[in-house]
Amino acid sequence: MRNDSCVLHISTVGGMGKEEETAPPTSAIGEYYLPLSKLKGTMSVEEAIARRRSVREYLSEPLSIEELAQLLWAAQGITDPKRGSRAAPSASATYPLEVYVVVGKNGVKELSAGIYKYNPLKHSIKLIKQGDYRADLAKAALSQPWVNKAPVVMVITAVYERTTSRYGERGIRYVHMEAGHVGQNIYLQTTALGMGTVVVGAFYDDMVREIIEAPKKEHPLYLIPIGKVAKLHELSAEELAEYYEKNRRG
Ligand SMILES: Cc1cc2nc3c(=O)[nH]c(=O)nc-3n(C[C@H](O)[C@H](O)[C@H](O)COP(=O)(O)O)c2cc1C
Repeated sequence: MRNDSCVLHISTVGGMGKEEETAPPTSAIGEYYLPLSKLKGTMSVEEAIARRRSVREYLSEPLSIEELAQLLWAAQGITDPKRGSRAAPSASATYPLEVYVVVGKNGVKELSAGIYKYNPLKHSIKLIKQGDYRADLAKAALSQPWVNKAPVVMVITAVYERTTSRYGERGIRYVHMEAGHVGQNIYLQTTALGMGTVVVGAFYDDMVREIIEAPKKEHPLYLIPIGKVAKLHELSAEELAEYYEKNRRG
């Protein structure tokens, strides 16, 4: 039997619906079915919370496709197939957010550099365009170097109407809250996988939208550079107890 977890599939866009099993293409415009995510890991949620930190320096080592798939699932993957509910909460399950991945040269072992869009329902990514766009993205983010240096950068955009059509103006705050939930899921999943990230809110919206070729109705909210780290942040129970004791003493 074929081991589907480590094989990428491409179905040709606009083709005859034929699905080929092949090595990831370097030139075709395609859709990649990602390896299914793990539902158990080796780090507890408490440890991930304790060890999470905004990290702005990464190793040059590429991510594996499994790691990228896990991160995308943590961001917006399906966690209740019966209802189609996703990993992060959403006001009335209106799901206003879209996720893009800007993959750098050698950013992901099995993928060529390019910009991809995540499809949560199929757990797939579709190539939008090929090439390493991290430098352009960093320029749009006021030259924050971690945007250029990270092997991959996720971009979260929002289609406000999906939520405001139900909640009016108040929906705007709901969309921003949801982006925060997704950001935290990505922080915790990166930590649990021995990676680092930092959410970036400082950038020119129009420049980012143009780079990722998002439609006008999508508004970029977060850039999220991600990479492996030499060492995760450490926190010991003793250190924490000492901190609180000192503050309680006044
Ligand atoms: C909405 C938001 C926007 C942020 N924007 C940036 C940013 O543009 N650049 C950056 O380096 N860090 C950014 N950060 C990360 C914060 O600087 C970081 O969370 C803060 O220093 C606390 O550190 P910690 O995340 O390690 O706890 C942002 C964080 C949030 C929540």
